Amino acid sequence: MQARAKRKRDSAKPQEMRAAINKMKIQPANRRLGILLSGRGSNFEAIADRIASGQLNAEIVVVISNVEAAPGLERARARGLNAVYIPSRQRSREDFDREAVEVLKKHNVSLVILAGFMRILSRVFLEAFPYGILNIHPALLPAFPGTDVQQQAIDHGVKFSGCTVHFVDDALDGGPIILQAVVPVRDNDTADVLAARILKEEHRIYPEAIELVLSGRCKIKGRRVVAT
Ligand code: GRF
Repeated sequence: MQARAKRKRDSAKPQEMRAAINKMKIQPANRRLGILLSGRGSNFEAIADRIASGQLNAEIVVVISNVEAAPGLERARARGLNAVYIPSRQRSREDFDREAVEVLKKHNVSLVILAGFMRILSRVFLEAFPYGILNIHPALLPAFPGTDVQQQAIDHGVKFSGCTVHFVDDALDGGPIILQAVVPVRDNDTADVLAARILKEEHRIYPEAIELVLSGRCKIKGRRVVAT
């Protein structure tokens, strides 16, 4: 039903516009990253380590958190990076997003990296960075969107889970998928044990996905991301 409605909507668009949507090249203007996090920041550190070792050609120009005491923010400071706290309590989503976008634009960021950022972005944010926001999710999307997903995977009885790096759009954990990695789910796994196994893969594929997007080799075809 939904698919039929979508097809009808799409066919109402001019042909050249549909072609542009169906085959869009993603080419960030520069290699300046802005990181958003709310917690410990191990993905942020994995990315920073890859940059430091010369394996990822990028620069983290600002780290933003909506949690003042987030360990990730402290770790960013310890690395001498720009670390900015933007309070999110008792303000509208749009209000927070407007301030975050302002900071990111001020630093001339072209790719926003969500690394354990526990907030949903509003249109204000999404429209400021079209195909310019990446997220990592600790499950094989579209299975298990949302939170507590390692426990969900165990409870569901899947034999494999993993992680997904995707572009962020207005669907929760639903944007086009850039990279995924698979791990086994063992019979005696707890959520913590499975999360640790998945996290190791997160640290490996997030920098790879960032490099892929920055390199300009990504094309969006429909909702598929293909590397050229
Ligand atoms: C990771 O599991 C990530 O997939 C999810 O939030 C967690 C963040 O961990 N989005 P860390 O703060 O990067 O250590």
